[in-house]
Amino acid sequence: MIKSVRFLLLSLLLLVPGTAPETPQQVVTRYNNYKAICNGLGYENSGCKDAADTIAFQSTLTKTLLNMKLHETVVFDKVSLNEGNAYSTATGKFTAPLDGIYSFTWTTLTEAPKFFLTEIVRNGQPIAYNHNDARGIGSGGYPMSSSHAYIKMKKGDKVWIRVNRNPGQYIQGGNWCNFSGIKF
Ligand SMILES: *[C@@H]1O[C@H](CO)[C@@H](O)[C@H](O)[C@H]1NC(C)=O
Repeated sequence: MIKSVRFLLLSLLLLVPGTAPETPQQVVTRYNNYKAICNGLGYENSGCKDAADTIAFQSTLTKTLLNMKLHETVVFDKVSLNEGNAYSTATGKFTAPLDGIYSFTWTTLTEAPKFFLTEIVRNGQPIAYNHNDARGIGSGGYPMSSSHAYIKMKKGDKVWIRVNRNPGQYIQGGNWCNFSGIKF
């Protein structure tokens, strides 16, 4: 839709009246007027966004982690997707390459009757929580729990998942626990 509107506008620009040709400045002015009308009608300036601008990652935990300390980072150590290379499997941290709103989801699987409680933090400030508590559940169970957060980030801000109750008793490896994110 936006493309066809652009095409229409470009066509109008090229229909130079038979009389005196417009100066480049007049063409620009006329273009800006059309643009103002389109924006007024609700069309957004979409610029030249393409696949190269995509920022998205999907990471997973390959090894089971036991008795993690309070605030220790859960490093999801393998990626199946890392467009924009903003997530580090070395540190477990996502660094925003651009200002914007980002969407994050993480999932943990623990082993009854243990618990593994986590939070997502931006620059060390907690934003949302995940409470995977299997105390009181008979052994043999493997409960799974997911949480989500939309987070406003400035370029260079970092987001990661960390333990929020000592100890982080048990988080299952073998690709059962994931951390993913995308920029809008
Ligand atoms: C987690 O993500 C990986 C890909 O990175 C996928 O293979 C796996 O099935 C996912 N785990 C779950 C429990 O969905």
